[in-house]
Amino acid sequence: VTPGLPDRPLTLERGGRILTTDRARIDVDAALALLRGTFWAGAMPRDTLARAIANSVSFGVLEADRLVAFARVVTDLATYAYWTDVVVAEDRRGSGIGQWLTESMLAHPGLQGLRRVALMTRDAQALYERLGFRVGSSGSTYMEIKPGPTGP
Ligand SMILES: CC(C)(COP(=O)(O)OP(=O)(O)OC[C@H]1O[C@@H](n2cnc3c(N)ncnc32)[C@H](O)[C@@H]1OP(=O)(O)O)[C@@H](O)C(=O)NCCC(=O)NCCS
Repeated sequence: VTPGLPDRPLTLERGGRILTTDRARIDVDAALALLRGTFWAGAMPRDTLARAIANSVSFGVLEADRLVAFARVVTDLATYAYWTDVVVAEDRRGSGIGQWLTESMLAHPGLQGLRRVALMTRDAQALYERLGFRVGSSGSTYMEIKPGPTGP
């Protein structure tokens, strides 16, 4: 495993499911399979995801040994976090896994006191609003450049 972000792994258990940020327990191929079904990461190369997992705080939800949900927090562990690649297996949606996953992302002990937690979503606003997220209204303008799948 490539050395990456120095976060302290977190593992929780609820109703027989395990939620973990321990990279050793998050199978890259299983995460890739979940992301294959999304509109934004369908073509993500395996190497890119492996590097991304090493360098962000990655969350997996396991039922027995099956990865049923995945998400990543891109962060400096001090001031800023950006949530991305949030996905629950299609046959497990609507049973509270997304709620547990995102609550746990917000409550992660290594991700407290940040200046800003940001995300972009097409249709899951209700899920994030429930956690306290609001459409940006600080008078600042969101800007971006999209150099390509792996950057410049
Ligand atoms: C969005 C997603 C992560 C939610 O996970 P989930 O486990 O189904 O969510 P939960 O069962 O915990 O439901 C929590 C709330 O999320 C919202 N929600 C659930 N499914 C949703 C969906 N398909 N689209 C949008 N919002 C949804 C609802 O507000 C729900 O509250 P309710 O139970 O009172 O209706 C999941 O549907 C998913 O993986 N979708 C495809 C990928 C995606 O769009 N990810 C979000 C990118 S920002």
